[in-house]
Order: sequence, then structure tokens, then C-alpha cells
Amino acid sequence: MEKSFDEEMNEKIGNLRNQKSVKILAIESSCDETSVAVVENGRKVLSNVISSQIEIHTRFGGVVPEIASRNHILAINPILEEALKKAKCTLDDIDAIAVTQGAGLVGALLVGVTSAKALSYATQKPLIAVNHIKGHIAANFIAHENLKPPFICLITSGGHTAIVKVVDYNSFKMLGTTQDDAIGEAFDKVARIVGLGYPGGPKIDKMAKGKKGTIEFVKHDAFENSFDVSYSGLKTAVINYVHQKQQNGEELDIPNICASFEREAVEMLTKKAIKAALQENLKTIVLAGGVAANSYLRESLSQLGKDNGIEILFPPIELCGDNAAMIGSLAYYNLLSEEPAKLNMTAKPSIPLE
Ligand code: KG4
Ligand code: ZN
Repeated sequence: MEKSFDEEMNEKIGNLRNQKSVKILAIESSCDETSVAVVENGRKVLSNVISSQIEIHTRFGGVVPEIASRNHILAINPILEEALKKAKCTLDDIDAIAVTQGAGLVGALLVGVTSAKALSYATQKPLIAVNHIKGHIAANFIAHENLKPPFICLITSGGHTAIVKVVDYNSFKMLGTTQDDAIGEAFDKVARIVGLGYPGGPKIDKMAKGKKGTIEFVKHDAFENSFDVSYSGLKTAVINYVHQKQQNGEELDIPNICASFEREAVEMLTKKAIKAALQENLKTIVLAGGVAANSYLRESLSQLGKDNGIEILFPPIELCGDNAAMIGSLAYYNLLSEEPAKLNMTAKPSIPLE
């Protein structure tokens, strides 16, 4: 009897596990970046093409989901060709197709997921579904060749904030998370309130650089005795402060507001990440996600690490934001331990980490 597509793919994945060099073509389209990469053995990036829609969304003050989906459709095929060309590969040289399944904007995710399924079926190569947030963690496997689990990861992105114990490449224990807004979301909202526009994170970073914020927004940590955090309280405190100043006709000291907000947003997490590493007896903390590009976060966590004998690692700036190389990296470790995704796999706007 003829083998089914799933049986064929299972067999192929089994063979790949014994292959010396495995090249994965990875696709990422969860938000406003369309990206395609070719990654070898989870660590070596042969190409990583990223097309950002930031300019398109800036005029709306944030990402408009429908516009993001339409632009992914326009970008995906040319970027795929460019990624193969840069990697000096053809589809014949690729062993498996990986794609971000979630979390993200459903319409945006669907563009990547549909393309990956079509490629998998047309080329008869296994399909690997990747969790976007786990992918952010894997950016560190590309940047630090000797990094191996277990370690603590501080996830700081536009949609997620968490302190996680990375037990193995595909095993995670959530130690704490945000109870409301994500840290990146808070940066973006505060930037909008003070008139810096979208995307707020890099703009606040620049505005706050070298400044010592003197304003105290949040006086009490509602989650003092846990690894959880809240960004809604900090955001509201900044909004109230700005409104009050405006009502009194006082001028806003924007660099001071940015530096004070940034300090509180970052310190809330860094102290807890150190505490988590000490509690779990782990000597390494890695940073992951878009906000990992923040210079104050990188500097202050590095200092805290030094003070406590803990190694602090982070990806280079170009691997902090959304990119397909990190998806291709994690896909390799998925391939080693999991079955391939089926062709009826679909996009998931939210997806658990554990
Ligand atoms: O990980 P990411 O690219 O997308 C999600 O998966 O959410 O993160 C995007 C977030 C945005 O909120 C953006 O403002 C923030 O990362 N970000 C920064 C910096 N660069 C990007 N936040 C603070 N400082 C930065 N330098
Ligand atoms: Zn992301």
C-alpha cells in the first residue's frame, strides 16, 4: 500500500535526525516583519532576510492587522527567493520547512503558515511548527554557540513578558509573568502619551539614554513576593502624571519621563530574574524578545549579573526583534525530538509556553 504524506514525512524526519548537516528554511510572519531564513543545524545562519513594515504602520500609530496581512502576502515570495539566494541554496538543498504557528496576529500568521504548508507539500519536505516566543529564546543559541539549557530566560517582547526556566531545548517552566500588559506594550503606550509615536521602544531608549530619571511612578510592587509583574499600574501612573502636568499648563520634561519610566519598567524585571536564577541555582540568564534591544535593560542586567556572579547573555540587536533565523534555530531542536506538523496544522493567535 502507498504511504500517506504524514507517514512519508515521519520517515524523512527520522532520517534527518541522523544526518550530519540539516538545512531548515524558516518563515516568520507573526506581526509586522516578513522574514525568511536558512539555518543549518540550529546554530549557523546561512541567510536571514527581514522586511519590516514599520514605515507603513507608523502613520497609523501602531500595527493595523489587516494591512500587515496584505503586506506579508506581497513580501513573502520575493523574500523567500532572496533568502535562498543569499544562502546560496535552492529548494533542493533544504531538508525541512519551518514556520511560526503562533502567537501573533492570526491573519499575519496565516500568510506564513499557508506558504510553509504549500512549500512542504510541493517539495515533499517535513513541516515544523514553531512557537514564536520559544523562537525568541533560540536567538540566543545562534548568538552564543556554547549556550545549552538549563538557564533562566527573561522574555521581554511586544506581546509577552515572562521569567522562564529553560529546562531543555523544548521544555520550559514558567516562573512568573505579567498579569496585564507586556513590557513592550507599555513602552509603546508611554511613547504615544508623550508624543514620540510608533514604535515607542527604540524612541524611549534613545530619549532616555544617559539620563537619570528622577520621577517615581510606582511606589509599591503588587507582586513583591512572586516572579509576576504588572505593567498596567506603571503605564497608568505615567498617564496620570502627564495629564496632571498638562492640566496645570506645565511643560513636560520628556527625557526625564522616559528615563524614569524605563528605569522602573526594567528594574521590576531584572531584580526578579536575578532572584529566580539564585533560587533555581542557575548561573546564566539570557534575554529574549524585542525589548531585549533596550540599552538600559542590557546594561543594568549585566551589572546586576556581575554583582551576583551570574552570566548575562543577549542576542545582537538584529536578532532581538522578529526574524526567521530564530525560528529556524528552534525548529532544528523540534525536529530532533518531535513529529513533523500535519498539513491541517493552522495558525494559533495565542499558544502556551509550557
Ligand atoms: O519581539 P518583538 O519584535 O515582537 C513581539 O513578538 O511582540 O517586540 C516588539 C517590541 C515593541 O513593543 C517595541 O517597542 C519593543 O519591542 N522594542 C524596544 C526596543 N526595541 C524594540 N523596547 C525598548 N527598547 C528598545 N530599544
Ligand atoms: Zn516577537
